[in-house]
Amino acid sequence: MRRLVKFATPFLLLAGLALLAAAGSVQAQEQTPPPEEQIPADEDIVQGALLYDSWFAALGVLPPEGNMPVWSRQSTNTRSGPDSWRCAECHGWDYRGAQGAYGAGSHYTGFPDLMPLAASLSIDEIVAHLQGANDPAHDFSGYLDDQALVQLATFLKYSLIDDTLYINPVSLQVIGGDMDHGQALYESTCAACHADDGKGILFRTEGVNEYLGSLALRDPWRFLHRTRFGTAGTSMPIGYALGWTPADGRDILAYAQTLPTGGEIVLGEQFAPPAPEPMPVPGGPAENFLEGVLTGIGVFAAALSYAILFLGGFLVLGFLVVILLGRRK
Ligand code: HEC
Ligand code: HEC
Repeated sequence: MRRLVKFATPFLLLAGLALLAAAGSVQAQEQTPPPEEQIPADEDIVQGALLYDSWFAALGVLPPEGNMPVWSRQSTNTRSGPDSWRCAECHGWDYRGAQGAYGAGSHYTGFPDLMPLAASLSIDEIVAHLQGANDPAHDFSGYLDDQALVQLATFLKYSLIDDTLYINPVSLQVIGGDMDHGQALYESTCAACHADDGKGILFRTEGVNEYLGSLALRDPWRFLHRTRFGTAGTSMPIGYALGWTPADGRDILAYAQTLPTGGEIVLGEQFAPPAPEPMPVPGGPAENFLEGVLTGIGVFAAALSYAILFLGGFLVLGFLVVILLGRRK
């Protein structure tokens, strides 16, 4: 018996350590590793975001004549001219192209999702792409200087925020936002200009008048991008500079979605609800059958892994008892 205990003790210790490590790694995996290149400057990220929104507005120059050459590869989005030159028009305010909000509706182009890609490319690779290295038609080097191209690449590589799981793709409402926190942020930072009811500033977008409340409901991703990074030519306080978390941005969006919309906005007219792949929200109510099944599988998997952990704990306890009994002899 003693021998068995002596023999088994190191293995038991190892097993215990492995269990601890496994529990720890579940936490650790959620953090992204620090950037391997030099830490990007905040001004570059904010300027990159403004360039992504509208590079000619950010640089204060006139947009090129005619359509961006790549534009002719699609016919579903009937906008033309300056809009066709904007990164946001082709790749979306959610950066997810055809995989995101612009996967359907009048903005649909079928152009690619930058979210998974940008993080995996180096700054040089992204810049090369913007200079037409892979596709001669995707060449902005005649309009954007090296500094602007690096700023764009820096923004894309380090600062994209994925809100997919937090915005209902059909109702466009924020999922799980903290309304009270959003209201507190709104009243302290935004109401001075946009007024308590969001009607302090009227926006004119594609021939339609809208207020903050209407924009928040019609295009939550544009609202988020501009709330976090600003809009060219204004001196708005921005979430990025205020140190807001992604959740802070969504909280303020959730509150803005409750503000009065005012007269002219017709929901769904310019922005048909998109139909991206269903993303189940753990624990949330299922929207459809597939989501229900996926949620079920998720719950089952979670339960199974708890059961395994529990069992492991039990085994360790059992062995400890055996050891103790062994000592007594
Ligand atoms: C007219 C639509 C259009 C505009 C405007 C546009 N893109 Fe693209 N972009 C595309 C298409 C289509 C592709 C994939 C095919 C290709 O590379 O040309 C692409 C590819 C990319 C890629 C590389 C993806 C890969 O597969 O490697 C990056 C990065 C990118 N775009 C960033 C930008 C940025 C930044 C801007 C704004 C300066 C921008 N794009 C403007 C249509 C556009
Ligand atoms: C100093 C005044 C000021 C403050 C404070 C301010 N904004 Fe703005 N905001 C503006 C101006 C000016 C515009 C541009 C209006 C236009 O484009 O016609 C704007 C535009 C916007 C837009 C873009 C609208 C569009 O057409 O896409 C959003 C979103 C926005 N503000 C949200 C906010 C939020 C959220 C806050 C609080 C965190 C805030 N703003 C605080 C002045 C302000």
